[in-house]
Amino acid sequence: MQNHSIVNHLFNCKYMSRYRLTAVFLFVVMFSPVRADEGMWIPLLLEQTRYRQMKELGLKLSPEDIYSINHASLKDAVVLFGGGCSGVVVSAQGLLFTNYHCGYGQVQSHSSLEHDYLTDGFWAQSAGDELPNPGLTATFLERMEDVTAEVLQRITSGMTERQRNDSIAAAVARIVKARQPAKHHRVDVKPLFGGNQYFMYVYEIFSDVRLVGAPPTAIGKFGGDTDNWIWPRHTGDFSIFRIYADKNNQPAAYSPDNVPYQPRKYAPVSIAGIREGDFTMVYGYPAATDEFITSYELDYLIRQNYPLRVALRTERLEIMERYMQADAATRIQYAAKHAGVSNAWKKWQGVIHGVQRADGVKQKIARETAFSQQIADNPQWSRDYGLLLEKMKNNVEAAALLQQASACYAESITSIELVKFAGSLLTDIPPPNQDLLKKASGFYKDFSLAVDKDIFVAMMKAYLANIPEAYHFEEMKAQLKRHKGSVEKWADEVYAKSVFRSYQALEKVLANPKSANKLIQKEPMIAIYLSGQAMLNERVYPSLRRLSQEHDSLSRVYIAAQLQADKERIFYPNANHTMRISFGQTVGYSPSDAVTYQPFTTLEGIMEKDNPDIYDYRVPQALKQAAEQKNFGQYAANGMVPVCFIASNHTSGGNSGSPVFNGNGELIGLNFDRNWEGTMSDVVYDAEQCRNIIADIRYILFIVDKVYGAQRIVGEMEVRE
Ligand code: ARG
Ligand code: ASP
Repeated sequence: MQNHSIVNHLFNCKYMSRYRLTAVFLFVVMFSPVRADEGMWIPLLLEQTRYRQMKELGLKLSPEDIYSINHASLKDAVVLFGGGCSGVVVSAQGLLFTNYHCGYGQVQSHSSLEHDYLTDGFWAQSAGDELPNPGLTATFLERMEDVTAEVLQRITSGMTERQRNDSIAAAVARIVKARQPAKHHRVDVKPLFGGNQYFMYVYEIFSDVRLVGAPPTAIGKFGGDTDNWIWPRHTGDFSIFRIYADKNNQPAAYSPDNVPYQPRKYAPVSIAGIREGDFTMVYGYPAATDEFITSYELDYLIRQNYPLRVALRTERLEIMERYMQADAATRIQYAAKHAGVSNAWKKWQGVIHGVQRADGVKQKIARETAFSQQIADNPQWSRDYGLLLEKMKNNVEAAALLQQASACYAESITSIELVKFAGSLLTDIPPPNQDLLKKASGFYKDFSLAVDKDIFVAMMKAYLANIPEAYHFEEMKAQLKRHKGSVEKWADEVYAKSVFRSYQALEKVLANPKSANKLIQKEPMIAIYLSGQAMLNERVYPSLRRLSQEHDSLSRVYIAAQLQADKERIFYPNANHTMRISFGQTVGYSPSDAVTYQPFTTLEGIMEKDNPDIYDYRVPQALKQAAEQKNFGQYAANGMVPVCFIASNHTSGGNSGSPVFNGNGELIGLNFDRNWEGTMSDVVYDAEQCRNIIADIRYILFIVDKVYGAQRIVGEMEVRE
């Protein structure tokens, strides 16, 4: 903490030179109690990058134990779960752990009034009880390979950006074709360092993944949106699946004849305990970070883009909450939507706070200043990069208004559920197609006309107030003119007339093919949708696309220049939804003056929060009972069950469900979140503030084994004491 304020103070000094800045950084590094390391490292390159530091912190494995294509290694236990989460295999029979919030959709899809797995939890009593999930996949990385030379071989300096992109696309297609991905395999080629490097990834995809167990939501999402992004935390954020294969242990579509998959490698579990300062390693699929971001972009994000988005979501959340508090049915209808809107809303506020607190924009300016001086000292670089930062700045400025219009549109007009629904029908299943009704019945189950109408009024007003007239769309202007400028009157008319106002109204219109055909011409929600899209396609997207391509190519050069200028430093590429490793230690932090957080929470904290009147803090009876009877088994430490812990691993969205390993490569927990003060780690990493939040494997096993008696599950795992 102390170090932090010193940095702040010095950054604020007007006359600080970049040499003094370097001195400050050295000081912080040398005296910082946290020996965390920023970075999401490529498993294949660990030895050339961070292996030595990891060993110093307590890693006992060899690089080959972590990543190898010659024999089973830890990477073979790491799974890409579905499209966006991570997971880990924990038994010789393909048992898989991921987060509860990652498997939530599946748990929900199997739930009904008779089988309310969300309220009661679900534990398959036998293999036959394990529930198939159409569409769900578990993907293993077979290998990754640097294919930069192959991808860039035909690139010449005289090429236009367009020619360059075409050449790269052709090379990527050649590579994928040459590798001839086997059935149930996929070959991806992805850019790293903004397109200065390319890696190929060969994946094996399993598509018979069954639900084995999940705690009640009151455990899996304990704390709900209230505690989301917050430390201290008490969430049992886990769910359990099993991967099935055909008789030859190969991936196969669901079949009752499939058998549990025998993985190349599964992770053993350690319940020996974790102490402060212990080494931790997160192995998973972080989705997107932007550490090379310029000061201009960062400044734009935290002063314009995020504040506008946050403000619009605040209005939307308030409307939902008003109705949710007044009516239990609406609370259930809007719970998942509210959680979805609230997740990024809360994160962005954390990012704004964190970037300001870490003086992130000044950090980036310092980097740019140092970079400019380096360029100035080298005539060749001056020629190559002299105008680069200036161009990047101009690019951000030129794009700002368009970005605002596009972001505002997405957060306001597109957030009106009926506009969005009308649009999705047009693109997916244009009327008079009868499939529309199927989709509609799912939609109306969780829809309230009153909520949406209020959102319509608030969001139209917000768009009008925030975005200049050049980006108002024709339907908006025409309707406001008709209603003498009153958004309320416009809403009264639309919500009374729209055929989308209810399932019944829509059904009736569709029953008659003639009126169904007229739907597209007459329906006000469709008119709004089409007019809005037309405006975006004419006035926003073309320029924005051009600017964003320009941005990407400038940024590729900027990153290349930094790699070249700072040869000493070992860089890591931004997260791009490929397999990465981050490492750190179990350690607390101090979010503000006089406040320090310990790195561990326990079951005692759950009992302290217990409050049947607060939805997010209701504790299931079975858990209360186990706590009262102290039925902790081997899962307790100091007489209490540990629940969550934090560490200094650099993680991002997509790392949810990632295994967290100790120095021996034993599973000690599942990553599921970050602390609010550290959510800026996607753009500015601050070792003092950034923490990842982990569900302790002992809590998970305690829930499975002691609270719900699902010994069948624990029995097949390798649990080390
Ligand atoms: N913040 C975590 C992540 O970004 C968890 C989100 C799910 N939980 C919630 N209460 N919305 O995914
Ligand atoms: N909760 C995030 C996820 O779902 C993890 C994070 O952003 O730290 O991937």
